[in-house]
Amino acid sequence: MYENLDELKSSMLNCRKCKLCKTRQNVVFGVGNPNADVMFIGEGPGGDEDRLGEPFVGKAGQLMNKAFDILEINRKDVYIANIVKCRPHFNRDPEEDEIKACIGYLRNQVMIIKPKIIVLLGKIALQNIFGKEYKITTSRGKWIVKKGIMYMPTWHPAALLRDETKKIEFLSDLNSVVKLMKK
Ligand code: URA
Ligand code: SF4
Repeated sequence: MYENLDELKSSMLNCRKCKLCKTRQNVVFGVGNPNADVMFIGEGPGGDEDRLGEPFVGKAGQLMNKAFDILEINRKDVYIANIVKCRPHFNRDPEEDEIKACIGYLRNQVMIIKPKIIVLLGKIALQNIFGKEYKITTSRGKWIVKKGIMYMPTWHPAALLRDETKKIEFLSDLNSVVKLMKK
């Protein structure tokens, strides 16, 4: 375990602990404020993220940024990371062995950042933090409290692309986060 993000990051930029290392261009560590109160956890890098080495910079990320603008969330104030740090080829779901190999980095990030709130973006994030029995359809929008951290599960931004209802629900879930932060 590392005590700061820079050390953790430099320890893993050449990681070969799982087979995703063979097809990635860049390890996508995470970005944002190392002292963030709010952390967002996605699934894994897509093509744009793999190319640029930063999470949520593609289409899904642009939708997330739009929601941030509406709710006056500053991308620089929060921290954004993923369950796996290398792109699953053709954007398939990450596999169990890959998640198992990688999730320690995320745990270490959470340990260092010590967020008050973690937003779980989609099913992969939800199920790998809380277990396979959790369904995003029934869990989204409802706080889960564990070990002093408040978790807000919501839709993955990619799910919003052609679904107006989910867009509204996503905004409403993030608004719950903003409201809690203002308390
Ligand atoms: N989807 C994710 O889950 N994470 C990213 O970084 C980009 C798209
Ligand atoms: Fe290492 Fe994670 Fe990349 Fe696998 S996905 S090679 S465990 S950084």
